[in-house]
Amino acid sequence: MTLNEQQAKIEDRKAVIGVVGLGYVGLPVACKFAEAGFRVIGVDIKAERVAQINAGENPIEGREPGLADLLKQVAKSDQFNATLDYADISEADVILISVETPVGKDHEPNFDALGAASTSTGRSMKEGTLVIVESTVAPGTMDGVVMPLLEEASGSMLNAGFFLGHCPERVMPGRLLANIEKMPRVCGGSSPETAETMMALYKIIVRGDLDPTDCLTAELVKTTENAYRDVNIGFANEVALICEAVGGDVRQVKDLVNKVPYRQMLDAGAGVGGHCIPKDPWLLAYGASDEKAPLRIIPAARAINDFMPLHMVALLQDAMESAGKDVSGSRILVMGYSYLQDSDDTRNSPSAVLVPRLQELGADVVIHDPYVPEYQSDLWNVATEIDAVIIMVRHSQYLEIDLAKLKSSMTAPVLVDGRAVFDAEKAEALGFEYRGVGQGKAA
Ligand SMILES: NC(=O)c1ccc[n+]([C@@H]2O[C@H](COP(=O)([O-])OP(=O)(O)OC[C@H]3O[C@@H](n4cnc5c(N)ncnc54)[C@H](O)[C@@H]3O)[C@@H](O)[C@H]2O)c1
Repeated sequence: MTLNEQQAKIEDRKAVIGVVGLGYVGLPVACKFAEAGFRVIGVDIKAERVAQINAGENPIEGREPGLADLLKQVAKSDQFNATLDYADISEADVILISVETPVGKDHEPNFDALGAASTSTGRSMKEGTLVIVESTVAPGTMDGVVMPLLEEASGSMLNAGFFLGHCPERVMPGRLLANIEKMPRVCGGSSPETAETMMALYKIIVRGDLDPTDCLTAELVKTTENAYRDVNIGFANEVALICEAVGGDVRQVKDLVNKVPYRQMLDAGAGVGGHCIPKDPWLLAYGASDEKAPLRIIPAARAINDFMPLHMVALLQDAMESAGKDVSGSRILVMGYSYLQDSDDTRNSPSAVLVPRLQELGADVVIHDPYVPEYQSDLWNVATEIDAVIIMVRHSQYLEIDLAKLKSSMTAPVLVDGRAVFDAEKAEALGFEYRGVGQGKAA
């Protein structure tokens, strides 16, 4: 099949779409294409997830407006089915790959999932398939990893037997469907004609701008936008530490700085998590040699953001000391275990760094999170005989907490706020020993 034939099939919505990897990225995009009238077949290696999806049950626990209903609708109508068997996507005209792309301890990309998905896709795809990688990948991965694996596994050549593009996803948990619809997308093709066909496909589900480009630029754009965010959060966190040292309030500083046109300082907080922001800066940096591009800002931002959960421990120790208590032997309630408000996503969660450190210090740690299944118990059942509370996530439920009630269930009223959930003055007026990230105490 030629690209022109592909495009005609896409425009008539007769193209069959395969989606490899049905996680936070793959599942909503599969649902959106099914809703638009395409026959969609999703492949995953997790049997439980495949069964849930086929039963029309949303496997994502967080607050995801519209996703559960849409999945139920497209699964019920058989417009979208999930499978464990790659043979089921052998008739797909377009295959989207959306598997995880983590980095290892050495900060280098781990290609296990992407490599396996590329090889399995190459073995199953028919001639003329358009393969689009939606996962975030290090610059050079499309040419250096995905394309050779597809060629080897399929026995055919790029732009003769198959076509290849990179359209990095820009979703965020909590807004998966809305972001697919509204966010602009970069359509990186391995040829300008491929990019054009990708534009024809994505314009069916995306209302934001679509920009045609090459694969390398698409790889650079996606990893740069997340590295940009990480660096800016790192900056805000460093200013927060300065504010604590000199007795200022970082939230007020941020608001007043942002009154200057073109200044967009971000919020400081208890750390950065998720699958993307902690690793995408390393993906961007991957392959840059020390001589040509010695890395300075990216590792510095990563270091400060990784340090913030440990800084929460230091704030707790300081507050406990003022309250005449020791962390060792105290019962500490950690509120929030996902990395993001109103999400169930615990990948690289700052709480996963904080909790073991508190346990090392001898604390009895109790965890609550309204979205993470292991920690979903009633807050007021776990908030008993608590010596201190640490807020790690700005979940909506926490914004409505009655502070006086919380205090009445505590033996020592220590409150450490990593997400600016509570007002320091109000907490102190109620008798809390309060510490907040970036909230210094005037001398
Ligand atoms: N989570 C986000 O908010 C987000 C946003 C933008 C981009 N991304 C990028 O999208 C990609 C996917 O992220 P995610 O959050 O959806 O990950 P995820 O872990 O939620 O989903 C990946 C899915 O792929 C499946 N999988 C792994 N290997 C497979 C294989 N060989 N064959 C079939 N399925 C396989 C896994 O079982 C899993 O269900 C990553 O590159 C990530 O950086 C994620």
